Order: sequence, then C-alpha cells, then structure tokens
Amino acid sequence: MSIGIFDSGYGGLTILKEIRKRLPEYDYIYLGDNARAPYGSRSFDIVYDFTLQAVKELFARGCHLVILACNTASAKALRSIQQNDLPAIDPARRVLGVIRPTVEALPSMSKSGHIGLFGTPGTVASHSYDMELTKMNPEMTLTEQACPMWVPLVENNEASSPGADYFVKKYIDMLLEADPSIDTVVLGCTHYPILMPKIREHVPAEINVVAQGNLVAESLADYLRRHPEMECRCEKNASIQYLTTESPEKFDALASLFIGEKVISSRVNLPN
Ligand code: DGL
Repeated sequence: MSIGIFDSGYGGLTILKEIRKRLPEYDYIYLGDNARAPYGSRSFDIVYDFTLQAVKELFARGCHLVILACNTASAKALRSIQQNDLPAIDPARRVLGVIRPTVEALPSMSKSGHIGLFGTPGTVASHSYDMELTKMNPEMTLTEQACPMWVPLVENNEASSPGADYFVKKYIDMLLEADPSIDTVVLGCTHYPILMPKIREHVPAEINVVAQGNLVAESLADYLRRHPEMECRCEKNASIQYLTTESPEKFDALASLFIGEKVISSRVNLPN
C-alpha cells in the first residue's frame, strides 16, 4: 500500500517534497482537489465533505495511512474523520494532519513565547492552532493573521512578481502590529513556502519564519518508527503517483514549480 497525501490543490506538494526527502523509500499517492480549490474560504461542512471524499478515494486506492497536507482540511475535517468516520470505515487505517506536528515544534523555537500564525481565513477562523498550542503550552500566546490573497498569488504564479510585495507586507505588518513581541511566525498554509523569499524580505531578520514541510516529515518518520504494524504495510518502491480533480495538463504545469521536478498526473473524479 502507498501513503496517501491529500491537499485542496498544489500546496501539499511542499509537504510531499520534504516527506520524500526524509522518507524516499516509500510509495506515495498525491491527490489534489484542484477543481474545488481553494478550500480556505469554504465553510466547515463543505471542507469536511470534500476531505472525507478524498480520504475515501485514497483508501479505495489502497492507502492505509493518509496525511492531510492541508491546514484548512486539518483544521476543519481531521477531528471528525478521526473520531466519527474512521471507526466505521476501518479502525486499522489512519488519517494524520499537519497542525499538531507544527505546534509541537514551536516551544523549542521561541524565546518570547509569542508566536504569530499566517493562515487561510478558514484555518484562522477555526482557531485550531491556538487550541493545540495553548493546550500543550498554556504560557505561550498565538496571534493569528488571515492572508486571503496569498494562495491566489501562488496559484497564479505571481509569488515572485513585484506586485506580490504589497500583499505580503500588508499581512506581515498587521500581524507584527497586533503583537510586537512575536519572535516566531508559522506559515500555517502549505502554499506559503512558495512565498518564502518575499516573506523573508519583509519579516525582520531576528524573527524565525517556520515552514511546516520538514516538521511534518520528521513527525511522519517518528510515527512510522512508533507504529511498526503500519510501517510494515507500507510498500517501498520509491514510487509517486499524482492525481488531480482538474485537468492533468494544467496540474502538471504548475505542480513542477512546487515540487521542483517533472510531474505527470491523472484525472480522478471524487464521488459526491
Ligand atoms: N493548502 C491549503 C492550506 O494549507 C490552502 C489552500 C486552499 O485554500 O485551498 O490551508
């Protein structure tokens, strides 16, 4: 069986890239729901329905372990799927998200205990990061900033254009004005690492900017170490299969930009 990696579109490729760097031996299936992206501004119920359909598709293709490489899906659908759906579908399968592995790494990165989060409007409205962080570290504080223009900039291949600076700087200024003690900012959306060079330009040098890919990859490696019953089910041919709900030609062109290698995908229809 392969390890399934799901995202609303392209963003999860930034996570897949780091996972494959850390765990190159496994087989992976990447599924991007590009036809219905972005998820960031969609309601809780819709994100949950779409995510569950994608998880079922990956299960049907033989994945016993699925990573929701999308913060919006992790924030809005993960808990319900884990608690309500998995026991009925197959209690031996697992669905993991990207929020907890990110939050777990923060205490060692921040001296002030003041963390900033950039995310989609959906992730910010769910307050999932705040709940996870303060549950584990009540002394730390999180200030959240929604960045509705960042995903469109990335998806339209404008991440390095001069026009991107205005919106990159705008949300950074809003966050740092809201809490000037922030010493660590989290890119809580899998699209945002593509904007990293611009974000780094506008965030003061003494503030850490944290992308999630390597944290999620490390956490998956740790999970597989702790769960040999799952690890032994994962096939190891170092293969990767890409699926998209949009046109494969369209997906392949932009996907290679995210993952830095040639991508050949196939179209999949998710049942409603
Ligand atoms: N990749 C998604 C995330 O990490 C954001 C893209 C979207 O809005 O669909 O939240």
